[in-house]
Amino acid sequence: MQKIIAANWKMFKTRAEARETAAALVSLLAARQEDAAGRLVIVYPPFTAIAEVADVFAGMAGTATGAQDVYPAEEGAFTGEISPRMLADAGATWVLTGHSERRHVLGESDELVGRKTAFALEQGLSVMLCVGETLAEREAGQLAAVLERQLAAGVANVASERLAGRFAVAYEPVWAIGTGKVAGPEEAGEAHALVRQILRSCVGPVADETPLLYGGSVKPANAAGLLALDNVDGLLVGGASLDANSFAQIIFA
Ligand code: PGA
Repeated sequence: MQKIIAANWKMFKTRAEARETAAALVSLLAARQEDAAGRLVIVYPPFTAIAEVADVFAGMAGTATGAQDVYPAEEGAFTGEISPRMLADAGATWVLTGHSERRHVLGESDELVGRKTAFALEQGLSVMLCVGETLAEREAGQLAAVLERQLAAGVANVASERLAGRFAVAYEPVWAIGTGKVAGPEEAGEAHALVRQILRSCVGPVADETPLLYGGSVKPANAAGLLALDNVDGLLVGGASLDANSFAQIIFA
């Protein structure tokens, strides 16, 4: 399976800054085309910079642009929200749903994440569904229960035929996001095996072809070790993706 290395730029970068980082990334990828061949690089800029990044990536094989969120309606009176068609129009082909900052800072429910996932897929976007437990949930022995709840709700309204080739899951333990604490190989390996098993029970055999990404304090120094684990088909990188050189080191890890 081709490894997916994704950059979540969160609420960072103006249009000019995004263009500059994307252009630097394209030069770094072009300089190492053979190593880049086994990678799909997805960048999720803030909404305002999607068109800039998509423009820089146009014609660069193995790259894609995504959005960090989406609203599950075609259009309407939803102030502040953005539809799949608007994202596609700006050049996004992927979207994140259920990122832990949306769940825990913005209060998104499992049910809303499920509606977003289903609607974005229906409207032709590829979806990267994020799941993961908080420290309190892990310490209370609820890892499997949390993953079951988030995954089941995440794909609740999706026909499994829609998933092949356009769906990925990112496992991001909340306690490892932006904290410098990365899940150790054992923790990450165990969680990824669980995600695969639960996903299989939700959507059937397509689960085996669904890329599973690890996220949470991924850095150039730990990327290769994480990518070598069973059931880790890619990485979702926040802080270390903001600089093109650091992100390229992760891409080529
Ligand atoms: P981090 O963020 O790499 O800065 O921990 C990852 C994410 O939130 O997707």
